[in-house]
Order: sequence, then structure tokens, then C-alpha cells
Amino acid sequence: MTEDIEEKYREAVERATKHFEGLLIEQLERVERLKRAEDWIDYSKIKPIIIGVVGGDGIGPYITREARRVLEFMLQEEVAEGKVVFRDIEGLTIENRAKVGKAIPDDILEELKKCHLILKGPTTTPRKGDPWPNIESANVAMRRELDLFANVRPVKVPKLGIDWVFFRENTEGAYMLGPKGIMVTDDMAFDFKVITRQGAERIIRLAFDYAKKNNINRVTVVTKANVIKTTDGLFLSVAEEVAKEYPEVEWDDWYVDIMSAKLIDPARRSQFRVIVLPNLYGDILTDEAAQIQGGVGTAGAANIGKRYAMFEAIHGSAPRMVKEGRAIYADPSSMLKAASMLLRHAGFTERADKLDKALDICTLYEKKVVVTGRSDGATGEEFSNYVMETLKDPDLEKKWEEYHKRFVGSGE
Ligand code: IPM
Ligand code: MG
Repeated sequence: MTEDIEEKYREAVERATKHFEGLLIEQLERVERLKRAEDWIDYSKIKPIIIGVVGGDGIGPYITREARRVLEFMLQEEVAEGKVVFRDIEGLTIENRAKVGKAIPDDILEELKKCHLILKGPTTTPRKGDPWPNIESANVAMRRELDLFANVRPVKVPKLGIDWVFFRENTEGAYMLGPKGIMVTDDMAFDFKVITRQGAERIIRLAFDYAKKNNINRVTVVTKANVIKTTDGLFLSVAEEVAKEYPEVEWDDWYVDIMSAKLIDPARRSQFRVIVLPNLYGDILTDEAAQIQGGVGTAGAANIGKRYAMFEAIHGSAPRMVKEGRAIYADPSSMLKAASMLLRHAGFTERADKLDKALDICTLYEKKVVVTGRSDGATGEEFSNYVMETLKDPDLEKKWEEYHKRFVGSGE
């Protein structure tokens, strides 16, 4: 029987083996590159800091434009002094990507590499059956090409005592080889998942560093190491090693299934603070977490590497909103959160704090202008005007204190 199978599928197995061999070489080369880790960029030494603005698809250009306006407003002095430059990078659209059959067209990638920071709207990711060729996600490609290994996604619900920061690994796991699976035969599909010691270590270390720097005494590592024994097993054992270097930070580990339950357990969830996890689990849990915060439209993400950093919404491009003529009503909150993360990452800490506070006031406390995603609500432009008015308000601090006193931990 075995012989028959071998005979029958010899060619298919050989082809798949060859394919796997190619992946192994590619990943081993990457490990070697990771071993020669470069230093972190120092924004205080760069002039000008170039902020690339990429609109993306669907509602992307609408909400990105609003975030850019707020950022330009907050950085007007730096722009006037030539310390910061905004640069539009056009053409990262599904139409263009489909035309050249690439996740990111070469000329756009080149432009991106000339920037330091990137503010990026959502881009459409085709899937089988779409009118587009089934090219790789532009997000995933950008994270890989610019080596943005840390996807940092904060989720806060002050009234429920929730203050989470997810550190999602961004360049490995099931994602890295997502477009490189193989149909071994017509009946059998294979995908590949890779986790490397170096890749796991740098994201876990970043999470522990963040906890230590911010006096947070809890890091939670999420895997499915009881079942996915080799790759997730490595991630967990690297975490054990790294944790030893941070005796002041307590840590625990959870499996992703029970973790998804605990995020909605009122008795438990406020105990989680910093959560570090492989790519796919991070993708899933951060959508769940964002929903608890008020929906994926409310969450922003930083994609951080040593040389580049990209800031984005965590949701998709919502083509349906555009088709139904509702794009101007799309909520720019996610991109405004991304903008605040950009400010913080570039060292404009006070301004980032201020923007966060203004967003709290506008979305959780005062709520004078409310976006609903439909014409019964405000437009994104009206909402960001409201945010800028709030930023100018001399009573901003006072209002925020009031909000904080009234709501935090209140359960309302
Ligand atoms: C995200 C998104 C992307 C991802 C998609 C659009 C490819 O869901 O940023 O979480 O899966 O990473
Ligand atoms: Mg996602």
C-alpha cells in the first residue's frame, strides 16, 4: 500500500519537497540577518523626519486625510522649521497592485523606504473568488519588507478597568508563509508556519521592556503550545528565558482559546496588562479586544521596527461603505489613535498624551460630535474638527480630569 502511494504521488511529493526546501533556505537566510540585528533609529538626530502618508483603499483615503490634518495641526511648528516633512505616497491601491500583480509595487516600496514614519490607511486584501488577483496583503508585505516586527495595539476601557497593550509578532508565524503554501495535489493543501528564536526573542523582549519602563507588573504570553508544540513551544520557551532577565516583572502564560474567553471575563480581564503573542493569535485577539473597546473602528496600531515604523487602523477598507456612499461618515478614530502612537514613537510624548486625552473627551465623555458610520451621524471631517477644537481648548486638562474621576472604574 505504502509503495503504491509513493509511486502514485512521486512527482507531487518531489515538487512539494522542492518547494519546502526553498522556504527553508529563505527562512534560514532571514535568521542570519536577524542575528546581525541593527540598532534602533534615533529620531532626535534626524532632520527632517519624513512622514509618508498612504491613503490605501476604500474608506482609507478619507480617514487618513483626517488623521493627517490633525497631525499637521499638532506639528505645525516642526513643519514650519523644516524638522518634519509630510509626504504623500500615492498609488498603494488595489487597482495598481492588481495591475502589477504585487502586494506593493516596486516604485511605491522605494518611496516608503525614503520615509522614517508612515501613516497608512487600510488596504484591501483580496481573497479567492474576489474580482482581483489573489495577491498578498499589502499590510503583511509592508510589515515584512520594512521588518516591522512589533504590532503594538493598545486597548483601553477605563470604566471597566481595562488597560491592555498587545504586542503581536508581525513577521513570522502562520502569516510569514501565508501566501507560500502549496497545493500538493488537487486534494491536499499545505501551509507552513515558522517561528525563530531571534524573531520570538525580539518581540518578547520589547513587551518586557515596555512593562518594565512603564512600571507594569504583568506580562502575559499567549500561545497554543499544548497543541502546536514545535513553533508555539519555541515561542513559550524563549519567553521563559527572556522573563528571567526581568525578575521585577511577573508573567504568566495562557492558551489562546481560554485567553479569548478570559478577555470577556469581568472577574479576570482587568488583571491583564501587557500581552505578547504570535502573529495569527494577535490578529484574532486584538479584534476581540477592540470590539470590547467599542469596535475595530476605535483601535489604532503601531507597527514598529528598528529602522521604520508604520501606524495604521486595525480594521479593513470597508468597500461597502464606499459603495453605499457613506465613506465621508467613516470614523477616523482608529487613524487618530494611530497618529497619537506616531507622535509618541517619534518622541513627541506630550503631544501624544494631549491627543489621547482629547480623543477620550470627544469619544467617551463630552461626545458633542458623534460618528455613526451613517448619515445620521457626523462626517469624519466634522469629527476631526471637533478633536482639533478640543486640542485648542484651554480647559482640556480639567475636562479630562473630570472625565477620569467620574468614569474610571465606575463600570458605567
Ligand atoms: C490586521 C488586519 C490584517 C492582518 C489583514 C488586513 C491582512 O486584519 O492588521 O489585523 O490580518 O494582519
Ligand atoms: Mg486583523
